[in-house]
Amino acid sequence: MEPVILKHPLIDNKLSILRNKKTGTKEFRELISEISMFLCYEALKDAKTETVEIETPVAKTKVSKINEDDYAFIPILRAGTGMLDGLIKVLPNAKIGHIGLFRNETTLKPVRYYYKVPKDIDKKQVVVLDPMLATGGSAIDAITMLKEEGAKNIKFLCIISAPEGIKKLQEVHPDVEIYTSAVDEKLNEKGYIVPGLGDAGDRIFGTK
Ligand code: PRP
Ligand code: URA
Repeated sequence: MEPVILKHPLIDNKLSILRNKKTGTKEFRELISEISMFLCYEALKDAKTETVEIETPVAKTKVSKINEDDYAFIPILRAGTGMLDGLIKVLPNAKIGHIGLFRNETTLKPVRYYYKVPKDIDKKQVVVLDPMLATGGSAIDAITMLKEEGAKNIKFLCIISAPEGIKKLQEVHPDVEIYTSAVDEKLNEKGYIVPGLGDAGDRIFGTK
């Protein structure tokens, strides 16, 4: 399955500010959240709806609604939580899980430190969030853990991806749809995306 790339001047405009090293923490966080809303909009365009009858001030009518309980948003800690804000603006009653992973800076392998996901994950549309898909290790491990728990319908949303990470994720989890706002050139020798935006977690939380 080919990744869905959000190619749009509005997204490119937001990315131009996000990537700039002069952009400060507040604006960086706001942009991550806003782009995530657009990713969610695209990823959930096939969302199941049910018809219910309501009354407007003028007349009775039938409207389409989403059952928000059917959705689980799973940010990969830390940086994924920066995206959550945008998604819960769209579906405020979706259930939320957390998977804590950090990359060992020498081996580049993800290390797990936290795991808590909503019950009945096997019946939900699961949306995994991480702004960066670099080597793909973190996304692959998080999705493997969710599948071990029974999750079947999984989409992965990221702001910036590297071709290497997309390829690896597609090889290991071919059933998972990837939504990204940019596919960059490559990874550097330290596993950073080039040109990328630097360390997403540090820029969201102002830790460096
Ligand atoms: C970053 C990013 C991803 C991971 C991507 O997290 O948010 O989780 O690296 O790299 P990969 O595709 O090579 O696994 P990091 O480990 O820096 O942790 P943080 O979110 O706590 O900053
Ligand atoms: N994680 C980040 O935060 N940035 C990168 O470029 C790669 C991994």
